[in-house]
Amino acid sequence: MALLSVKNLCAYYQTELYGISRTVRAVDGVSLELLRNEIYGVAGESSCGKTTLIKVISGNIKPPLKVNSGSVDYQFESYAVDMLHVSKDELRRNVRWKEISYVMQGSMSVLNPVRKVIKTFEDIVDTHDPITDKKKFLEQVTAHVNLLGLPTEVLNSYPHQLSGGMRQRVAIALATLFQPSLIIADEPTTALDVVVQRGVLQMIKDIQAMSGNTVLLVTHDMAVHANVADRVMIMYAGRIAEEAPTASIFNASLHPYTQHLIRSLPMIGERSNKAGLKGTPPNLANPPSGCRFHTRCPDVMEVCRTEVPDLVPVKERHRVACHLIQETSL
Ligand SMILES: Nc1ncnc2c1ncn2[C@@H]1O[C@H](COP(=O)(O)OP(=O)(O)O)[C@@H](O)[C@H]1O
Ligand SMILES: [Mg+2]
Repeated sequence: MALLSVKNLCAYYQTELYGISRTVRAVDGVSLELLRNEIYGVAGESSCGKTTLIKVISGNIKPPLKVNSGSVDYQFESYAVDMLHVSKDELRRNVRWKEISYVMQGSMSVLNPVRKVIKTFEDIVDTHDPITDKKKFLEQVTAHVNLLGLPTEVLNSYPHQLSGGMRQRVAIALATLFQPSLIIADEPTTALDVVVQRGVLQMIKDIQAMSGNTVLLVTHDMAVHANVADRVMIMYAGRIAEEAPTASIFNASLHPYTQHLIRSLPMIGERSNKAGLKGTPPNLANPPSGCRFHTRCPDVMEVCRTEVPDLVPVKERHRVACHLIQETSL
């Protein structure tokens, strides 16, 4: 059984400015499953709804964001959680950090800038299991941090004394302290330079291999997915364009948008400029009719302008939403 099952999720930002109300359809009809023991990548250009999707999946739903329809259900080892109806208290006490943890871009948002790193660990652990034995707690945290290859000194440092890469590793150590079932990482390496990026990604891979949990890795960087993900989902304008095992995404993609993303990856030794996609990402307050990609698609047909393509299975574990592609019975 899947760890997480998302069905027909629609999550919109409802804003009002100078009396004009606006609805941004950031996630618009998304269905997916996360399996146990996999790294599931989510890709797509900026503003396509990746962060909004994980806000809902992780239970961070606050105005102006509103879930209009759909369901988000977890089946953890010993209990189930309906994320759209669970109480805030239950979420805080039993779900956050213990079952689901979240690594954000720029780790300063979780590390308190005026407290030593160990104090942030203490604060978070204390809300779940009040610390009675300080010495034992310190031993456990030190062992965990060392296991992940970090020196003990990081615990006694202030965040600003650490490099960006080290801070991001500390944030990952914090996120994995309780061995959660799901680790969500939103652009975890986007702010880092390439060499540091590689180390942080390797750390995420190693932790996943060690503990067999599920990682939801969100990044616009396709090269990262190629190296890390087991499956990749391509999002375009609030909807899923394609989803497949990583090898199929890179070697046998079917959606013109996925093909564009892959073609625009730089190759070693290549000098020519990559051809960009014409047009700009659609405005999600007023998305295009039919297939949302039709305004930029090199293979656009008449039907694409009016009919929304369903996301259909084409091969095992491979789904595509494109009028060029016929559903195949598996
Ligand atoms: N707080 C907000 N209020 C209104 N619109 C928002 C808010 N946050 C994000 N959006 C809009 O929702 C859409 C999806 O954004 P986001 O989920 O952050 O995309 P991504 O993470 O893929 O870059 C964008 O059009 C963005 O402008
Ligand atoms: Mg984002």
